Amino acid sequence: MTTALITGATAGIGAAFARRLAADGHDLVLVARNDERLRVQATELHDRHGIEAEVLVADLATDTGIEAVAARLRERKHPVDLLVNNAGFGNKGRFLDVPMADELRMLTVHCEAVLRLTAAAAETMRERGRGGVVNVASVAAFVPHGTYGASKAWVAQFTQGVARDLAGTGVRLMALCPGFVRTEFHQRAGMGTDNIPNWMWLDADKVVAEALTDLSRGKSLSIPDPRYKALTGAAKLLPRGLMSGITSRSERKYGPQ
Ligand SMILES: NC(=O)c1ccc[n+]([C@@H]2O[C@H](COP(=O)([O-])OP(=O)(O)OC[C@H]3O[C@@H](n4cnc5c(N)ncnc54)[C@H](OP(=O)(O)O)[C@@H]3O)[C@@H](O)[C@H]2O)c1
Repeated sequence: MTTALITGATAGIGAAFARRLAADGHDLVLVARNDERLRVQATELHDRHGIEAEVLVADLATDTGIEAVAARLRERKHPVDLLVNNAGFGNKGRFLDVPMADELRMLTVHCEAVLRLTAAAAETMRERGRGGVVNVASVAAFVPHGTYGASKAWVAQFTQGVARDLAGTGVRLMALCPGFVRTEFHQRAGMGTDNIPNWMWLDADKVVAEALTDLSRGKSLSIPDPRYKALTGAAKLLPRGLMSGITSRSERKYGPQ
């Protein structure tokens, strides 16, 4: 029996990882801030799939929260075989509209927590000679898109770099870069989504299925869905200035309302 720890496990992509990994027979450590939601989810997954689901309440915007999860990842008696760094959020508005405290909170959750938790997990995984880390970035990593895109670019670059550093140790790392996924993300940020065309939306369960296939194939970067593979390929060919204009205009549409 293997154990997976998922941050941001109560909603959206994290909950889809929890459902899929529980169905595959993995024990789980579920991390988020909402204690009640975590407990309901743990009971449901235990009852449905007969797996053990631990609850770890932690705010990954705080030093205490990050350290609590890192300590669980360092536990050698109950090792974690797969870490999914998924917790994240968006801030509504463009640069200077967003309070600096919220920008910094985003960097703590998206970057500092991912750095510290990846290190804690990878160290014990390397000792055992096996393990996996999936860091959830975004296709926003490939376009100029404010602090959110910059933080996700860091996640993608960091993860692929560490995957190379740890090659041959048995520890696999993969950055997952989805496009728009139907979750609580936009609603929580107060962002309207009416102007996002239907064809751009992905299903969280399908994103997770493709991510786990890519991880098993040893990929260090996963971009689920052919539509987004094509879009990110095109983004690399377009001039930076043009991309910047497009993402800035689109932000005006489905960013602040
Ligand atoms: N949805 C998209 O279109 C999309 C696209 C590309 C990438 N992503 C990325 O995918 C990841 C998951 O997003 P989602 O769309 O699934 O969002 P979501 O439905 O809003 O879920 C976010 C999860 O993260 C947890 N969380 C948020 N802040 C946290 C904190 N400070 N400490 C601990 N847990 C925290 C939330 O639980 P609590 O509130 O209980 O803490 C929740 O479980 C994020 O990293 C996001 O950037 C999303």
